[in-house]
Amino acid sequence: MSVEPPASDVPWWREAVVYQIYPRSFADGNGDGTGDLAGLRSRLPYLADLGVDAVWLNPWYVSPLADGGYDVEDYRRINPEFGTLAEAEAFVAEAHEHGIRVLLDIVPNHLSEQHPWFRAALAAGPGSPERKRFWFRPGRGENGDEPPNNWRSIFGGGAWERVTEPDGTPGEWYLHLFGVEQPDVNWNHPDVAAEMEAVLRFWFDRGVDGFRVDVADLLVKEDGLPDDDKEIGYRPWKGQDGIHDIYRSWRTIADKYDPPRVFVAEAWVKPPELLARFVRSDELHTAFNFDFLTALWTPADLRHAVDTTTEALFTVGAPATWVLSNHDVVRHATRYGRSTDEQNSRMPDVPVDDALGLRRARAAALLSLALPGGAYIYQGDELGLPWVELPVEVLQCPHWVRSGFTRKGRDGCRVPIPWSGDRSPYGFGPDGSKPWLPMPAEWATLSVAAQDTDPDSHLNLYRTALRIRRGHPALGDGGFTWLDSPPQVLAFSREPGFVCLVNLGVDPVDLPPHDEVLLASGSLDDGRLPSDTTVWLASS
Ligand code: NOJ
Ligand code: CA
Repeated sequence: MSVEPPASDVPWWREAVVYQIYPRSFADGNGDGTGDLAGLRSRLPYLADLGVDAVWLNPWYVSPLADGGYDVEDYRRINPEFGTLAEAEAFVAEAHEHGIRVLLDIVPNHLSEQHPWFRAALAAGPGSPERKRFWFRPGRGENGDEPPNNWRSIFGGGAWERVTEPDGTPGEWYLHLFGVEQPDVNWNHPDVAAEMEAVLRFWFDRGVDGFRVDVADLLVKEDGLPDDDKEIGYRPWKGQDGIHDIYRSWRTIADKYDPPRVFVAEAWVKPPELLARFVRSDELHTAFNFDFLTALWTPADLRHAVDTTTEALFTVGAPATWVLSNHDVVRHATRYGRSTDEQNSRMPDVPVDDALGLRRARAAALLSLALPGGAYIYQGDELGLPWVELPVEVLQCPHWVRSGFTRKGRDGCRVPIPWSGDRSPYGFGPDGSKPWLPMPAEWATLSVAAQDTDPDSHLNLYRTALRIRRGHPALGDGGFTWLDSPPQVLAFSREPGFVCLVNLGVDPVDLPPHDEVLLASGSLDDGRLPSDTTVWLASS
């Protein structure tokens, strides 16, 4: 199959390598155990040297952190633990000086229970205009003590919480598709659209280059809030048509800026044709490719994910993105070290072959950076960090409590970054400081300093790959062509003169005729490509 390149005049976002920063866990400048803007600013040279085009920061706004900042109390101020607005502005300016664009995270589906709107809604009581910005409903049943419908929270438990009214009586219920601390806003209310658009402008005016849109598919709910019928696979709270009007309006705003600002959709939707609807030319620009992230490490699964996503996205003229990990999933160095049955589970204690996982993570990195479009690197991917099985006493992810202590949640991929030294906090903060999540005793060899000068390190594989990618005319945006190959091998070419081969089988395979080996994720075996290895070839 051959896919033609979409456009010739390439805007940056069609082929950007975006580095995801989880601010809480990136670098702690003041030693209180939490990452911050001072730390982040001090590490900009590292990111420039790595060679990324942009960063995306998870939410940095004022927040009680009931869900790691996806519970925003004030969309225009910085969480004081991270720093000040002045520091945020300085960060954006300094990133730009390093040639790095900055994407923030907008959380438009819900806000924090501490947000002034929600506090006002609670205080104002049933029927008030303040409550109309949310989804307040009377309960069902004789005393109103049953929730308004059967929707479930994505974090576990019901999606409705009953409030106590200002007069002390049990009262209405409000909708929260996530934690009880995260009330959903009502996008039918004009204040909601106006406020979110004002927030976009607030940050665009400060030079921010774009936004990642949190749960981009959930904002609109079906009129009447009908029960969720699990059988038919349709969700009255997901993928509603009206969502697209919101993004058309946002696009108009982004396009008025010079240079135009951009959006990337976080939408866990299937099939890819539905995802493609979010990135039509007058809506959002790109979307995370979660089909690629959840594909098993098998030639059939990966090839299927590549084919179906590129076909759907290219049909609407959007570029693909390639995502291996983020702050919500088990890191791929660990996933790929598990048996294929377990690669996508979050269960603790699944057996992991660490060396195999790391080897495959190297191969996956070169695959993801060779495919057409943009790519995401989650902080620590470039170091080959694994998922961490944390002791339950330290868990902060709301999944843990909301699931009745059955799902440990996502903290295992949010452990702070090891920068240097041989013990915690590994340069994440000053010596003697205590990171907000414990850092494993065996992470000394994974630190940036430990990997910096080792030419074969995971970090240097990424650095070299990004350098080649930047300079090679075939890489980034464009098309690709599958090449004939044995079934256990993925092989494709990109014009001009580039071939990528991934061996997902057990036995080494021959390389096709080529001029030069540009880069390989592991040593070749007598000129052949070993198991779980990717090679980039120059081929005229
Ligand atoms: C997706 C975010 O990535 C996740 O971390 C968060 O919990 C939910 N959206 C709710 O905002
Ligand atoms: Ca700090």
